[in-house]
Amino acid sequence: METLGRVLVVVPTYNERDNLPAIVERVRAAVPGAHVLIADDNSPDGTGEVADRLAGDDDQVHVLHRPGKQGLGAAYIAGFRWGLGEGFDVLVEMDADGSHQPEELPKLLQAVAEGADLAIGSRYVPGGRVVNWPQRRELLSKGANIYTRVMLGLPVRDATAGFRAYRAATLEKVGLAGVESQGYCFQVDLTLRTSRHGLRVVEVPITFVERTVGKSKMSGKVMSEALWRIGLWGVTGLPGRIKGANRH
Ligand code: GDD
Ligand code: MN
Repeated sequence: METLGRVLVVVPTYNERDNLPAIVERVRAAVPGAHVLIADDNSPDGTGEVADRLAGDDDQVHVLHRPGKQGLGAAYIAGFRWGLGEGFDVLVEMDADGSHQPEELPKLLQAVAEGADLAIGSRYVPGGRVVNWPQRRELLSKGANIYTRVMLGLPVRDATAGFRAYRAATLEKVGLAGVESQGYCFQVDLTLRTSRHGLRVVEVPITFVERTVGKSKMSGKVMSEALWRIGLWGVTGLPGRIKGANRH
């Protein structure tokens, strides 16, 4: 894994006080060389203080305190900027609630070591699965991926996935300055940008396990932002897709 360079796992948090210690411990055990950055949006439940305590006990754990709840995408952009500034070579996205299993991190990093510019931990490629999701949530996720495929024509099965590893060079090429997505459509946004830059996106099968502690922050606002933004990208990208199709 030495060839990968320095790895930073960015973990966005909003009210994850009871999940955070275990997830940080599992990341540190699974990939001992990796650093962890907790990007907390001033959680009212005191997650920020828990994060400070974890960082105080471990030189490889860091905290980014943000003023308030500004969305998953905004937290990741701030976390990535911090990581690029500190010279990390690989930037990982991972949820704090245990849905993404740190023990599967080496698989993602392996894909990057083998040449992926972006490795996505995918629920919807052979070998990937979801454990304990209510049917309503599974339908929402599958529907979102179908909508994304139709609108954008991306060759990716799980474009909304939140467990991924980016090469620093990928984020630098793609550029974070123009990213406006605030909620979960940030995932689709960056997948689209990476793919449009002709970079190599590889899906690695993972098992997504629904959280047992705390609550999902998925909301009507998150869903409607995804709906209109993905629709807009689809329409504005259409001339390029038609031209591309004619060339073949
Ligand atoms: N800092 C910050 N700010 N963190 C946030 C925010 C926010 O506004 N919203 C959510 N988070 C954090 C949560 O605390 C958690 O660590 C992680 O982001 C994922 O949030 P969940 O609310 O648990 O997401 P989910 O389980 O409903 O959705 C998962 O699946 C989606 C795809 O189906 C996530 O993996 C999403 O990233 C993914 O798009
Ligand atoms: Mn979750």
